[in-house]
Amino acid sequence: MAEEKLEQVTQEKDKYENLYKFSRKLEIKTLQEKYPNPNVSLEVPGYLEGEMDENTILRVKNLHISFKTPNGLVRAVRNVNFDLKKGETLCIVGESGSGKSVTSRAIMGILAGNAIIDEGHIYYKDKDLAKCKEKDFYELRGSSIGMIFQDPLSSLNPIMKIGKQLTEALILKTGLNREQAKVRAIELMHEVGIPEPEKRFKQYPFQFSGGMRQRIVIAIALAMEPEILICDEPTTALDVTIQAQILDLIKKLKKEKDLTIIFITHDLGVVANMADRIAVMYAGKIVEYGTSEEVFYNPQHPYTWALLESMPSLSTSNRLSAIPGTPPNMIYPPKGDAFAQRNRYALKIDFEQEPPFFKVTDTHYAATWLLHENAPKVENPLKNRYQSQRKETNVEVTE
Ligand SMILES: Nc1ncnc2c1ncn2[C@@H]1O[C@H](COP(=O)(O)OP(=O)(O)OP(=O)(O)O)[C@@H](O)[C@H]1O
Ligand SMILES: [Mg+2]
Repeated sequence: MAEEKLEQVTQEKDKYENLYKFSRKLEIKTLQEKYPNPNVSLEVPGYLEGEMDENTILRVKNLHISFKTPNGLVRAVRNVNFDLKKGETLCIVGESGSGKSVTSRAIMGILAGNAIIDEGHIYYKDKDLAKCKEKDFYELRGSSIGMIFQDPLSSLNPIMKIGKQLTEALILKTGLNREQAKVRAIELMHEVGIPEPEKRFKQYPFQFSGGMRQRIVIAIALAMEPEILICDEPTTALDVTIQAQILDLIKKLKKEKDLTIIFITHDLGVVANMADRIAVMYAGKIVEYGTSEEVFYNPQHPYTWALLESMPSLSTSNRLSAIPGTPPNMIYPPKGDAFAQRNRYALKIDFEQEPPFFKVTDTHYAATWLLHENAPKVENPLKNRYQSQRKETNVEVTE
């Protein structure tokens, strides 16, 4: 079975590479001749035009982050722009290394010591978090912006009882006394679905399963009553059933507590049930930005197509295809569209010039030359999948 799968993937990959060579040849004659010097601004994409209105809770603008390493500067985030609207769930999707965690860590002010914010802004209320010092973050972190991570074990202290970890957080951030904090902690454990919270209160993290630990981490984040909750791959370490339960819990809590969520994942399957809006990231940039409906049913960037094609489908007729090649080395980010090397629809211009954000609708933008009026028309390869996907993604996961 596994061999059969491998064979399928290899065949797909060969097909992919042939197509890729072919489309490159095709392009030399077409787009570049017609459009040698695109006069477009790459600074800030159209979707960020205008002032921040009262519905915009956070704005990331023109953000560039690099890391000093012995081999050179790693350009991890290269001009990221997005708005976070009050009450929405914005999902940031992309392969490993695309810069999702670095972007969210910058918002929390917890970047590694070798990180440099080269330029850009993170506007939140009257502050620019990109310019804040550690002491400014102390007040914001946890109580205004909370974060949960992929591995619940590393977020918990292994030698401290669960109850104490929760009450410490409550005492520190809310000013409750020990007794009040205990009552609130048990309430919170109940809210996140921990059975017998009074008994569990006295246990250590190792006595909890992975899913239960993640529920505790969520409870600790909620203890501080944040306005924004950043979830960085919170279900990646869990099996699918538990994953579905945690996703349902996050959705339920979001509604009850009026949270605004940034949800980070490499798994588009997760996004389908969570997202109001989606930002697709590749090699440190957002390449497509739209509502969940738009990105799933009318995707425009070939990287989004590739992600959707590699997404498992419930119906057996759809073959899984892997994205050939590897993400680029971010010490030497490629010129042009960073995905060009792996893109079977790449045009010559993609290797030379960075595409701007083309507007598809008022809420949907994609940075691909394929949207230019002179570009050769490419039929969206996912057309036939939409019907079945639409049916599948409408299925609600229940506990
Ligand atoms: N402290 C660091 N020093 C050097 N490079 C780093 C550091 N932290 C992150 N990077 C690099 O920054 C890039 C983006 O990393 P990031 O952790 O944001 O990826 P990601 O999209 O979250 O991926 P994953 O899905 O694996 O979590 C990667 O190339 C990574 O190697
Ligand atoms: Mg990450």
